[in-house]
Amino acid sequence: MQTPALSFPASLVLFAGLAAAPALAAPAKPAKLGLCSACHGVDGTSRTAGTPHIGGQDRVYLERALSDYRSGKRQHVPMTSLANALQPRDIQALAAWYAAQPGFVKGGAR
Ligand code: HEC
Repeated sequence: MQTPALSFPASLVLFAGLAAAPALAAPAKPAKLGLCSACHGVDGTSRTAGTPHIGGQDRVYLERALSDYRSGKRQHVPMTSLANALQPRDIQALAAWYAAQPGFVKGGAR
């Protein structure tokens, strides 16, 4: 007998994605996330002084920022050289990932 309901883990993942970003399904972990997490964290919460929090930021803005670093329109070490290692599909995947994260709340209980 099959039940049409989602399995327990699948419904949890779905719920987490919906809670984080109502308009988006939870995106898959981008292949290049390991290039970013030392500074921005896996969830987009900065790990180092001088690094911006990008979790929960607008997806289109993140795509534009990364494309601008890649093209050289926006220049900042180390983002310019890092973005040179990204293909447009990487930029889309990373922007979708970080946009879907809950986002940093100063003093928040996370
Ligand atoms: C060595 C640390 C470091 C790593 C690794 C790193 N970043 Fe950054 N990132 C920074 C810093 C510092 C800035 C601020 C640069 C500036 O002022 O333009 C930044 C800026 C950004 C911004 C612009 C944020 C804004 O508000 O405009 C985005 C988007 C971003 N990084 C995404 C990424 C992604 C995606 C990766 C992985 C491919 C990555 N970063 C890897 C340090 C890092």
